[in-house]
Amino acid sequence: MKLHGTMSVKNRNLYIGGVKCEKIAKKYSTPLYVFDEKLIRQNCREYVNYFKVKEKICKRHDITQNIYFRITPGIEAHTHEYIKTGQIDSKFGFALANGYLYEALGKIRDYKNISLIGLHAHIGYQIFEIDSYMDAVDIMMNLVKKIIENFNIEIKEIDLGGGIGVYYTKYDSPKTIKEFCESIINRPERACQKLKINKPILIIEPGRSIVANAGSTLYTIVSIKDIKDIRTYVSVDGGMTDNKIPKPAVVFIENGKAKLICKRQTYKDLISLEL
Ligand SMILES: Cc1ncc(COP(=O)(O)O)c(C=O)c1O
Repeated sequence: MKLHGTMSVKNRNLYIGGVKCEKIAKKYSTPLYVFDEKLIRQNCREYVNYFKVKEKICKRHDITQNIYFRITPGIEAHTHEYIKTGQIDSKFGFALANGYLYEALGKIRDYKNISLIGLHAHIGYQIFEIDSYMDAVDIMMNLVKKIIENFNIEIKEIDLGGGIGVYYTKYDSPKTIKEFCESIINRPERACQKLKINKPILIIEPGRSIVANAGSTLYTIVSIKDIKDIRTYVSVDGGMTDNKIPKPAVVFIENGKAKLICKRQTYKDLISLEL
């Protein structure tokens, strides 16, 4: 097992955020979902530092609604590789290949209180290849130029979605947040200089790369079967069914303290839900 964030092992006991896991497993019962708050904050801060997020407050009345178009840029990203295809078989977004996007762009100008300000794409999950994001940026920047030239609409924001790969097993070698951000952050600027267009704001939506390695599930061992010279089976009180019911509790732990975020579901809760 790889130790992430504040995880440590002392006297054969796992500690997360300064809390002995055995202790909280007993307190909240197992399976128990545990999140390392410090690691989540650290990951978020790292992304924010690179992207310098600005907060915006929307006026509720009398506004023109800003919208994005989700596009299918034609990049299919797999776990360890990616391919560029003219693929249009996606349930999300307007594909470039079949002209649907241009049809929609033609129509959007007729809606007076809708303003198209951004393009959005999400090219897959568990992506380890930064090149696939680079290609997505290039495709989107070329599109930004095309849209201003052909439809006179200035795209001010491009959103690359999420999907940044994380470590699950020893076969995974994800890029660090630093490596990912440093590679993609200047890409739109370079593309804009080349294409002679204004630089849009670059947005990303990292999900699992913020939380995945900050989360652990604690189980209680219920039996051990040792087959001599062959294998030892260790059975625990959870597994594939954790996501079913009753749902385990969720705790966030930091600085030696566990905060209960979601209490363990009981059969009484389930019965009251059915009623
Ligand atoms: C549009 C969009 N953005 C971001 C994400 C987050 O992906 P990940 O958690 O792999 O970074 C998803 C995942 O479903 C998504 O559909």
